[in-house]
Amino acid sequence: MAAPRAAADRIRRLRADIERHNRLYYVEDAPEISDAAFDELFGELQSLESAHPELVTPDSPTQRVGSAPAQEFAEVHHRVPMLSLANAFSDDDVAAFDRRCREGLGVECVDYACELKFDGLAVSLAYERGRLVQGATRGDGSTGEDVTSNLRTIPAIPLSLPGPAPAWLEVRGEVLMRRKDFEALNQRQAAAGDKAFVNPRNAAAGSLRQLDPRLSAQRKLSFFAYGIGAHEGFALPATHGELMDALAALGFPVARERRVVRGEAGLLAFYRDIGGRREALPVDIDGVVYKVNRFADQEALGFVARAPRWAVAHKFPAEEATTRLLDIGVQVGRTGAITPVARLEPVFVGGTTVSNATLHNEDEVRRKDVWRGDEVVVRRAGDVIPEVARVATPGPRTDGDYFRLPSVCPECGSAVVRLEDEAVARCTGGLVCPAQRKASLLHFASRRAMDIEGLGDKLVDQLVDAGLVHTPADLYALTVEQLAGLERMAEKSAQNVHGSIAKSRETTLARFLYGLGIRQVGEVTAKDLAAHFGTLEALMAADAEALQGAPDVGPVVAESIARFFAEPHNREVIARLRQALVRWPESAPRQAAVAGRFAGKIVVLTGTLATLTREDAKERLEAAGARVTGSVSKKTDVVIAGAEAGSKLDRAAELGVAVIDEATMLAWLGETN
Ligand code: IVH
Repeated sequence: MAAPRAAADRIRRLRADIERHNRLYYVEDAPEISDAAFDELFGELQSLESAHPELVTPDSPTQRVGSAPAQEFAEVHHRVPMLSLANAFSDDDVAAFDRRCREGLGVECVDYACELKFDGLAVSLAYERGRLVQGATRGDGSTGEDVTSNLRTIPAIPLSLPGPAPAWLEVRGEVLMRRKDFEALNQRQAAAGDKAFVNPRNAAAGSLRQLDPRLSAQRKLSFFAYGIGAHEGFALPATHGELMDALAALGFPVARERRVVRGEAGLLAFYRDIGGRREALPVDIDGVVYKVNRFADQEALGFVARAPRWAVAHKFPAEEATTRLLDIGVQVGRTGAITPVARLEPVFVGGTTVSNATLHNEDEVRRKDVWRGDEVVVRRAGDVIPEVARVATPGPRTDGDYFRLPSVCPECGSAVVRLEDEAVARCTGGLVCPAQRKASLLHFASRRAMDIEGLGDKLVDQLVDAGLVHTPADLYALTVEQLAGLERMAEKSAQNVHGSIAKSRETTLARFLYGLGIRQVGEVTAKDLAAHFGTLEALMAADAEALQGAPDVGPVVAESIARFFAEPHNREVIARLRQALVRWPESAPRQAAVAGRFAGKIVVLTGTLATLTREDAKERLEAAGARVTGSVSKKTDVVIAGAEAGSKLDRAAELGVAVIDEATMLAWLGETN
């Protein structure tokens, strides 16, 4: 049965009205009707469409939420990469940008399109013959995620384009949340007892990446267009300014705050104008963007790395606010770094309420001379963690107000150590500290360490969160049943992981040492230590001085190793790993070659050798019992100088170290063999 003409007309009218009110709300920031009146129109359209299902079209506003929750997002390859922008922070940076453009184009003055720098999430919307067919996030610029279903729920994004449509058009822009929608969302979160979002950007990002488009739909996201990607059959105008007008005519939200200006003076005037009106804008921006207006000029200027030479983002300075510093606590990071954290009387800065701010490290606390109870200036820029910038007014400053770094880790009670040359203090309980647990397990299992296949991020998260694994030693006590009991873990995969854990018991001392995650002990040092000491017991028994006998181990590395093994918690885990039958072939410590001129000598290679590569020379010297190091010191026995040897030769002369040439080196090596 054909639908009555009246119904069809009313439906058409309602759709047009609803789209218009969406525009007024999301694009013009000038709604004409209340939310309730809007809901009424929407309800009427829904009931008419359910009475006449044959009149439902995919681009009806009721059809924005269509699909069921996804399992994961598919990948989308961007035909034209989504690039980033270089930043300018000062007037001088802007002058330099203008100069580069003028010189690059060989002209006296350049026209620029100025627009807002939205603080949201970049997306690309693909229209095939005028219908929205795909929407993707920026991702790494080449490959993003397919979030079409979620983007369809954003009222500001047209589902279809009017008029004669291009065969293909990708429109690029930013998904964001208007400030008032953000505040309303946070009020709803609070009323429901859920966690508040930190800022509109995070709220927008979190909402867009919901696997269930119905959740995205509830979040009132907005969109602003600022460019295009791949296109076919699209009449590209000559300038960016005209392109923005064309996109607006197609129904895309384009910010009203845009202007084409001449030269540097025009850019700076736009910046000051927008800066002065920033607070009154409906959305958060973190600066403005300047683009060379003519596309032909853009093409002539081209790109450097991942950013165009023809555009720049001129950032606003970080926002600051003053508040009272209630306390200074410390936070233990994933790698054991101990960071002083300011607990603040909550203060509104940079678009959010801040109650914690970083103080970076102990030296920074001293340099800024920050005490508990002071009035401090808090600074926040974009997505950066808020920091205490400086003291505004000192507080009473009694003894207890002075900050001292704790001597033990607040998470695990292990000793806190700050190595010479390092700004950061760290917890030494790498193997036991709950704050470091996940990172240390992942490192232990990694390919170059114990090489436990299948023990990745997600599994480690589950094992730790379920309380099954506290330290690497616990891995060896896991049963197939325990593994199979975890979410999304099939019996077969459980058996595989169990198998790879068992297999990792047969290892080498070097891998084991590297896997312990001792600060300053990378793969190479672990190998050197294993070769030098031969057994774990010998290494653990060595004091800082003995440790420095190993190749390339200086005082800082030695102290780090000594502190690690001095920590009783760590010794306990190591003992348990040994009990779990983790083992490796024991070897005698590397013996210095007994005979020959290089036996036991510390040698430095410098300059270009005529017959051997640096690597070959090193290998042959080591085979002859020498230790080849990188820099000349008092301990150096011989420097081997090739052509164009530089400062190392001077240093050798200064210290009176013997210098020989390559021919002599070869002769000496010959004597050995
Ligand atoms: S144009 C080739 N215009 O900034 C240049 N980007 O750092 C491509 N952004 O990922 C970007 N407002 O998310 C452009 N008016 C604007 C923008 C803008 C915000 C974001 C965008 C991009 C990032 C680049």
